[in-house]
Amino acid sequence: MPNNMQFSRIIATGSALPEKVVTNHDLEEILDTSDTWIRERTGICERRVAPADQTTCDLAEEACRQVFERSGVDPKSVDLLIVGTTTPDLVFPSTACLLQHRLGMEECGAFDVNAACSGFIYALSVADQFIRSGAVRRALVVGAETLTRMIDWNDRGTAVLFGDGAGVVLLEASDEAGVLSTHIHANGGHANLLCADVGVSRGFKNEPGGGLKVLMSGNEVFRVAVRTLGRIVDETLAANSMDKSEIDWLIPHQANLRIIQATAKKLDMPMERVIVTVHKHGNTSSASVPLALDEAVSSNRVKRGENLLLEAFGGGFTWGAALIRY
Ligand code: UT7
Repeated sequence: MPNNMQFSRIIATGSALPEKVVTNHDLEEILDTSDTWIRERTGICERRVAPADQTTCDLAEEACRQVFERSGVDPKSVDLLIVGTTTPDLVFPSTACLLQHRLGMEECGAFDVNAACSGFIYALSVADQFIRSGAVRRALVVGAETLTRMIDWNDRGTAVLFGDGAGVVLLEASDEAGVLSTHIHANGGHANLLCADVGVSRGFKNEPGGGLKVLMSGNEVFRVAVRTLGRIVDETLAANSMDKSEIDWLIPHQANLRIIQATAKKLDMPMERVIVTVHKHGNTSSASVPLALDEAVSSNRVKRGENLLLEAFGGGFTWGAALIRY
């Protein structure tokens, strides 16, 4: 139980997407692929792609401004800003620092978390610890990505999967139940199955873009993801002595509809209780869970007092879950 029954509660959510829609049919023009293959194997129909002059921080800023507008909260009253991202604007300063300045926030702690597609769950977990301990009262937690910047548009195994976007939640300390528990894990032993194998310290390659691109053994990642997400769901329910029937909504990472369906099946949840955005967003990495959460809240499907199970799996491997009383 948290100190003095102090919980972090979600005060407001927000999101932002680039305007440009790229459909499966658009990809048929440039790749040896088909709309049928992409829809049947992934559930994706279209994704958003940011233009060169729209960055991860731009998308994050738009989503955060929406949160402040919706909540009426003054950015200066926020004590902590964490951005989950694998595609920061710069090597440094962090995207969180750039964002803090743009939003006119005071000198609160601001940092990025890189946990690939689990970045938002990791960031949420860190923010929740700060609020539970009483160290901060309000925290802004962002998942924002421009992953299409590091896609090899000649590789049909990855190019059809990813999209850009940002999602955010504003958390506040409360006596009322909110985030019930968070769980984060990693296993670096599988690093080579999903990675971008260049960087500042290891160096870049003598090829366009320095060789910066997503490399993925999709089939192997798929099998580990299904198995691991099954385990994290069990762990989360057990930690709260909760039965799967008590979960009102599953809000999963949006990588592949078949992975989402496998987790829903494990929970005996009908797909009507699962928030699915993968068909229109593709895989937006760190942004995928908060984008889905914002859509669920904005469409009035998720109601106050309901139990939400958020989960994600990504490169590293990293994975995590959060159980939230909304
Ligand atoms: O967010 C981080 C975590 N990431 C994930 O969770 C992604 C996990 N992986 C996946 O979602 C799936 O593995 C993919 C969607 C990436 C691939 O689906 P799959 O059912 O595992 O296909 P596969 O890789 O086993 O490939 C089956 C066939 C192959 O052809 P052959 O060898 O059977 O002739 C591929 O070359 O499909 C082919 N293929 C494609 N065909 C048309 C692969 N990509 C494409 C494509 N269009 N885009």
